[in-house]
Amino acid sequence: MLTLDDDDGPLYLRLYRRLRGLILDGSWETGTKLPSSRTLSEELGVSRNTALHALEMLIADGLVQARQGSAIYVTAAAPKPTDLDRHPSLSRHRKPVPFEVGWHTAEFFPLDKWDRLQSKIPAEARSASLYGSGPGGWPELRQAIASYAGAARGLSVSADQVVIVSNTQSALDLVIRLLAEPNDEIWMEDPGYPIAQDLLRLNQLTLVPVPVDGEGLNVQSGSRQAPAARFAYVTPACQFPTGRVMSAGRRAEILDWASANRAWVIEDDWEWHAHFGKGGAPRPLASLPGGERVLFLQTFNRTIFPALRIAFLIAPPDLAIKLAELSHRIAGEPSVPTQAALAEFLERGLYAAHLRATRAAYAERRSVLLNELRSLPPGFEPHADRAGLHLVIGTPSGVDDSELAADLRSKGIECSGISEFSTGNACERGLILGFAAFTPQQILKPARRLVRHLQALYPHGRR
Ligand SMILES: Cc1ncc(COP(=O)(O)O)c(C=O)c1O
Repeated sequence: MLTLDDDDGPLYLRLYRRLRGLILDGSWETGTKLPSSRTLSEELGVSRNTALHALEMLIADGLVQARQGSAIYVTAAAPKPTDLDRHPSLSRHRKPVPFEVGWHTAEFFPLDKWDRLQSKIPAEARSASLYGSGPGGWPELRQAIASYAGAARGLSVSADQVVIVSNTQSALDLVIRLLAEPNDEIWMEDPGYPIAQDLLRLNQLTLVPVPVDGEGLNVQSGSRQAPAARFAYVTPACQFPTGRVMSAGRRAEILDWASANRAWVIEDDWEWHAHFGKGGAPRPLASLPGGERVLFLQTFNRTIFPALRIAFLIAPPDLAIKLAELSHRIAGEPSVPTQAALAEFLERGLYAAHLRATRAAYAERRSVLLNELRSLPPGFEPHADRAGLHLVIGTPSGVDDSELAADLRSKGIECSGISEFSTGNACERGLILGFAAFTPQQILKPARRLVRHLQALYPHGRR
């Protein structure tokens, strides 16, 4: 027997939230048939239109799906519990195999220049190297990052707004520890980055899966599901895993929502450097009007080398002081010689040159892969217009991308399905193939095998 909570607001919203709660807390598992609009209206004494409206909103959020006539079933699994073994492929202590997702390459990194910078760090950095850099990080590096963030990403910030941490996750962890209360709601892109999801769950936040469409995170769906959420975590420059870039309209919408609700937008500037079309990545949310509600994260671990362990967070000045202090107490800062060498690396323009060189190599690898994928069966569509270090191949409707990816993996062809990163069914379907860590030679053979397998599985294509 369903009842409605003593909640404010229009009936359809109360009903929608009640049903959504039953799905997300796991009371209704995937495959559960929902009561029909007629039953809902009779049991709860609401109009049929109210019930239909609530059901349509659940369909739009991808939590349920209409099948067999008008019957509606739960399609979203309850958020999965944190499982630290769930994505072992992201462990960096081994060599990846084509087309594993989540890898870049350090093979173009100018290690000799880096070694020289490390051996010639300024005298003050040498003497500080035994005691550490203090809260926020090595001042020269904070300054170099502030200048570089201005030049490369259009951010106008001072050095004391920059907090140096070891990786994206630790930046996210700090923000949440400082600003969140248990059970605070956070909008999460669906599909989205599983490691961030795990971390937020460990911090006892309530994750609200918000569908991603062609324009990025669907702000309207977020506002409907959890209008008073305190946070949103987004990857606007390159959505993980779809590679979509958030549209200008959505950028404005999410900033408006954040300022109207005094919410924080956590902008993970993920793969901003991996744009292969003209024009590069659009300007970050943090640089736009309304950007005061944005906490900006970026990592060097994926552009320099994974063991570097340096990322940074940019926050408004009053918050940056607190974040720096908290980080100092919990984790401390990366080693001073490494920070000092990175400051020089940035200031001498070596980082910009390194990014240009890697981008050129990645562009070549990507076009080799795209070229091999020209003979995919009809209905399989490589999306050359997306950003990122993996390529998305749209799969034909009716094909379960996760099952297909699992089948391919069982045949020794590594790849993932977009829906593996989703809790619902709202997400687009597709295979994702990491290309950055593999030379053109290493790409050719497995790409041909992939095409042959798909041709054998779908000899006449599928639309
Ligand atoms: C969206 C996103 N952000 C951040 C990271 C990793 O950043 P870091 O190496 O600093 O932890 C990843 C890694 O796959 C990612 O997918």
